[in-house]
Amino acid sequence: MSKQLCEKIWRNGEFINWADATVHICTHAIHYGSAVFEGIRCYELADGKSGIFRLREHVRRLYDSAKIYRMEIRFPQEEVIKACLEAVRVNRFKACYLRPIVYRDFGPMGVNPLKNPVSLDIITWDWGKYLGDEALEKGVDMMISSWQRNTTNSTPSIAKCASNYASGALIKMEALSNGYSEGIALDAAGMLSEGSGENIFVVRDGVINTPGIGHSILSGITRDTVMRLARDMNIPVVERTIARAELYTADEVFACGTAAEITPIRSLDKITIGSGARGPITGRIQKAYLDLVTGKSEDKWNFVTRV
Ligand SMILES: Cc1ncc(COP(=O)(O)O)c(C=O)c1O
Repeated sequence: MSKQLCEKIWRNGEFINWADATVHICTHAIHYGSAVFEGIRCYELADGKSGIFRLREHVRRLYDSAKIYRMEIRFPQEEVIKACLEAVRVNRFKACYLRPIVYRDFGPMGVNPLKNPVSLDIITWDWGKYLGDEALEKGVDMMISSWQRNTTNSTPSIAKCASNYASGALIKMEALSNGYSEGIALDAAGMLSEGSGENIFVVRDGVINTPGIGHSILSGITRDTVMRLARDMNIPVVERTIARAELYTADEVFACGTAAEITPIRSLDKITIGSGARGPITGRIQKAYLDLVTGKSEDKWNFVTRV
């Protein structure tokens, strides 16, 4: 059995003990992937307090994902925001990862989910550096996956649905078994999409490029933060279609996500990207991001919610 991650889990309006947070094998989500979730980070701030980064936006995306799958969440967004803050307090974390998950619970068997009740749990745990301790500084080696992302009219990538992560797991397992940290997938047209859990940015001649929403990506909240920070630093940002080969000839490539933060990609398919180290623009964005999330720089967008 895996180790216990936290003391209490918020379930449908109350905190329950870790050991009681079980589900029945006939839970719809287990059979049919009918769950939508979020991944949020709470950081220890410069003043020693804790702050959750972009909590409102994550909760909003959770409701957007649920809406796409016709799941009705029985609580207003404000209550879920409060429950996330309470989950950090109750479990006495300074810094942690939060995983609110909305799922079709035990009810009738069969694909049709409409009669299954919708539950909402919030889990918290300590999650260090997602792609390894040295990743943020030295960068990681990635590969282009042989698996492509689903098209937007199969399972839509802007909904953070559990079923999307079946594809994510294929990408991740292929990468790991070939000795890479992560895989980057192309979309059905063969153009750059995203990693199994990160959005991708490609830097060339001082311009930051990233695929648009039409390329089977999750509309990442870190991606949005990166674009704001770059524009603030007068670094041009362009959302456009990016061909696979452009990645190899880029000056810098980096991945971003709540879990991965800002991770430089030093090689792709064993081709060195730029100088093979964290590039100057990646370094500036990474520092600005980490300063913002940890309260070391001015929070002009009011992105940090203090616990
Ligand atoms: C498939 C996928 N793309 C991108 C991201 C990055 O999104 P965010 O920055 O909102 O964490 C994630 C992480 O949740 C993801 O799972």
